[in-house]
Amino acid sequence: MSSYPDVRLRRFRRTGPLRALVRETRLSLDQFVMPLFVAPEGLRNDELPGMSRLTVDQLLRETEDLVRLGVQALILFGIPEDKDEQATGAWEDEGIVQQALRALRPRFPELVLMTDVCLCEYTSHGHCGVIVDGEVHNDQSVELLARTAVSHVEAGADVVAPSDMMDGRVAAIRDALDDRGYDNTPILAYSAKYASAFYGPFREAADSTPSFGDRRGYQMDPANVREALRECELDLEEGADALMIKPALPYLDVIRAVRDGFDVPIAAYNVSGEYAMVKAAARAGWLDERTAALESLTAIKRAGADLILSYWTKDLAQWL
Ligand code: PBG
Repeated sequence: MSSYPDVRLRRFRRTGPLRALVRETRLSLDQFVMPLFVAPEGLRNDELPGMSRLTVDQLLRETEDLVRLGVQALILFGIPEDKDEQATGAWEDEGIVQQALRALRPRFPELVLMTDVCLCEYTSHGHCGVIVDGEVHNDQSVELLARTAVSHVEAGADVVAPSDMMDGRVAAIRDALDDRGYDNTPILAYSAKYASAFYGPFREAADSTPSFGDRRGYQMDPANVREALRECELDLEEGADALMIKPALPYLDVIRAVRDGFDVPIAAYNVSGEYAMVKAAARAGWLDERTAALESLTAIKRAGADLILSYWTKDLAQWL
């Protein structure tokens, strides 16, 4: 009784309800986070709606829509009015993300407001930190990142997510938050963030393409997985509450390795390039967006992610 013809795996595949009974992985909207871009001026992107820039007013309307559809969490990215060497727009009180948080917080008390903590959208050169002698200076950058995280929490953020890949930033952020009494605010660390080609559409949306060089001096080498585990271990030691792997689809093995290695919540970022590839192929008539997106997101969950950041979150709310 252990093989064909006694065993026929097709028996449980015959109908939708039979398949549902034995399904191992499910998508549920309450584990999805919708990324949104806030800017002084809006910029609609009809081809990649998830990459549009919203003014604070538009953001409020969009959030109302999302909440009505059942979305429970957002992550905010900001494009400032002005960029400079010190990324002032990232940490100043009147920064665009801070303004957005102050507008959202009282109107949506239940909604989880996450923020991406990084300097690249705010520096004149587009790197994720401060440049000293032609290189991104780790410790000076960390100081500004901690300042940024505190200002986000002061303005109403529930969770901060540092995405810069500087060493020691999680500890610095934890200390800075605790010093001000924010010891209940979790840190979702982009622990294994790779120097990836799949961030292209994001960088256009966020206007954060480096003006010289690339990010390989701080983001991870795509060839490495053991190093990802070290990053995760260090971030946990520094006080991270949850770990993120980014991008998601080309790094499912990394998600699985981190899932197997650590008993903490694992997030995966289904990045702009992953979204754009499916959109473009669907537009060309080569595949069906909805089924390709659902398959991709299911694969990310199956690999071991608990929560997923995805530009499909709004669509998903309508698909599920
Ligand atoms: C900021 C940041 C980036 C993304 C998230 N946070 C861009 C980058 O590192 O270049 C990419 C997200 C996406 O592509 O959807 N550092």
